[in-house]
Amino acid sequence: MHILFLSGFLAALSPYVHAVQYVMTQNYSGANFFDGWNFYNGQDVNNTGRVIYQDKAAAMQQQLAYINSAGNAVIKVDNTTIGDQSNPEFNRSSVKILSQVTYSSGSLVLMDAVHMPFGVLWPAFWSVGPVWPDDGEIDIVENVNMRTNNQYSLHTLDGCRHPEVDGQDTFETGTLTNADCFNQTSYNTGCLVRDPSENSYGSGFASIGGGVFALLWDASGIKIWFFQRSAIPADLPTANPNPSSWPMPVAAYPAASCDFNKFFSPQTLIFQTTICGGFAGSNYGPPCTGECEDLVYNPANYNDAYFEIPYVRIFTDSSLCVIRFPGE
Ligand SMILES: *[C@@H]1O[C@H](CO)[C@@H](O)[C@H](O)[C@H]1NC(C)=O
Ligand SMILES: *[C@@H]1O[C@H](CO)[C@@H](O)[C@H](O)[C@H]1NC(C)=O
Ligand SMILES: *[C@@H]1O[C@H](CO)[C@@H](O)[C@H](O)[C@H]1NC(C)=O
Ligand SMILES: *[C@@H]1O[C@H](CO)[C@@H](O)[C@H](O)[C@H]1NC(C)=O
Ligand SMILES: *[C@@H]1O[C@H](CO)[C@@H](O)[C@H](O)[C@H]1NC(C)=O
Repeated sequence: MHILFLSGFLAALSPYVHAVQYVMTQNYSGANFFDGWNFYNGQDVNNTGRVIYQDKAAAMQQQLAYINSAGNAVIKVDNTTIGDQSNPEFNRSSVKILSQVTYSSGSLVLMDAVHMPFGVLWPAFWSVGPVWPDDGEIDIVENVNMRTNNQYSLHTLDGCRHPEVDGQDTFETGTLTNADCFNQTSYNTGCLVRDPSENSYGSGFASIGGGVFALLWDASGIKIWFFQRSAIPADLPTANPNPSSWPMPVAAYPAASCDFNKFFSPQTLIFQTTICGGFAGSNYGPPCTGECEDLVYNPANYNDAYFEIPYVRIFTDSSLCVIRFPGE
């Protein structure tokens, strides 16, 4: 069965397949970048991280969300406020933004970053449907603390999986860590694929000037690529990207082992950075001393805690835009 699934999936990756035409439906970039996003305001309730997310006016006023002189959007954690150490409830200001539109099957999402947050914290660029985990979650960028490689993961109800085989060098370049996407297995790890490149996250990512993450969701499943800045395909930043011409993705989830129509609803894109909390707090340890929470008071720990984003773009399969008549 699996061989059959995979051969169909590989055929879908072959360059001989008729190329789908993608049309740009969102171009978040430059001075208007923040117009298309809602700012979540309040505590980091579900992750119990030590941040307080700021509304748009407060984030802009504190220079936690702004357009820099290069024309790139900066989304950052406060690195100027000295926390009161006598207050065990001190939370640092941060930003969480959610796209006002959703994307669905037949979409290509591009996110170009020059820099992403690193340090003792937990950044993410991800997407989620209205109800979790019933409508699916897709983690495009996520890791914690001083780890070096990005991780890709889906989280769902029971029944959606990555193929059991590690697809490394056959249908993806990443390494399979956990095949089951069901949130109630393996402590909600999700079906997780690890990027082989130490330049996909953290200081390594910043040292190469970052790159572009691309996600394609179509009838064959979900594929994610990470292109270092020096290896971005020439067509990618244009109005006509052609993913069928790109090399093997870093993470791939063929539809044969997950019914995406059943486990995923239209997805809202999210940028956020939290401090400590579930994932980052439980992965804090030697050689660091004390508790993760001890670090939150010193603003200098967050000088690298920012996304710098030239653009986020969403493209839609143009055949889905064609008006069809009954019987056609
Ligand atoms: C926290 O999780 C609950 C249950 O999944 C969900 O209803 C709620 O929207 C989440 N809150 C935030 C702020 O994400
Ligand atoms: C700070 O965040 C933590 C974890 O989310 C929460 O328990 C605490 O109540 C927050 N502190 C304040 C003052 O809101
Ligand atoms: C998985 O999702 C269910 C809701 O469907 C929730 O009750 C449960 O706490 C979640 N489990 C984990 C480990 O996140
Ligand atoms: C997206 O918008 C920016 C201006 O904000 C523009 O420079 C760029 O060419 C646009 N991208 C495409 C692919 O049209
Ligand atoms: C805060 O971080 C930014 C970005 O890394 C840096 O340019 C700035 O100097 C930092 N601020 C302070 C007060 O250190």
